Amino acid sequence: MSKIFLAGNWKMNKSLEEGQAFIRALQEDRWSTDLQVGIFVPAVYGYPLASLKNEALILGLQNAHFEDGGAYTGEWSMKMVKDIGLSWVILGHSERRQYFGETDQTVNLKIKKALSEGIQVIFCCGETLEERKQEKQKEILKRQIVEGLSQIEEKDLSHITIAYEPIWAIGTGVNAKDEDAEEMCAYIRFLLTAQYGEKAAKEVCLQYGGSVKPANIKGLLQMPNINGALIGGASLDVDSFKEMIRIGGDLVGQ
Ligand code: PGA
Repeated sequence: MSKIFLAGNWKMNKSLEEGQAFIRALQEDRWSTDLQVGIFVPAVYGYPLASLKNEALILGLQNAHFEDGGAYTGEWSMKMVKDIGLSWVILGHSERRQYFGETDQTVNLKIKKALSEGIQVIFCCGETLEERKQEKQKEILKRQIVEGLSQIEEKDLSHITIAYEPIWAIGTGVNAKDEDAEEMCAYIRFLLTAQYGEKAAKEVCLQYGGSVKPANIKGLLQMPNINGALIGGASLDVDSFKEMIRIGGDLVGQ
């Protein structure tokens, strides 16, 4: 099996002290270089936690703005992310789209700005329950992928991880079945192939996200088009996160 990328999205959770204790506990473990492990923390903890970062651990934020600066109260720029020593962001998470008015267009602007600043991106996409019931999931995904990646060149693709996160599976405890998650990731790969060609598309890391936990991660990671997971709730507990790293480690070792 090729590389696996496991990313924890803490969302708006934890105190600073809890965050520091988590990262220290995580760093007691070692994992294969074929396993990428990342934690995406609340922006206000970015700076104090950046100082705890080591080579093996990716630390990133859950959002950043597409403008370099100006009158955007409550926001921070990609340059600021870099300024505090971080080089990863999650963009287009469904909670940002749902509660903070992000659109395919703003997500696209953010991805382009991140790339121009040398910041790596986890770009999230996925359909609502209503859209799935109407069997529109592929249509929605196609729009999100095509518009989100508009004007992004093949050479930049290696800096983008795409996370397929069906909204009905996020925080609900009900994950997509392995085969359903695989079908959608295979469809993303197909869309990337159409846009960038087979070689570039094959290299893109695709994660599944939505109620991933130690009990279901193995089956998901064994799917041919799933190269990792974006984990919310189950990334808050260090033992559960370590358990998933152990499972991922066994798989890359195979
Ligand atoms: P969940 O969240 O694992 O709690 O479902 C995933 C996410 O929103 O990235």
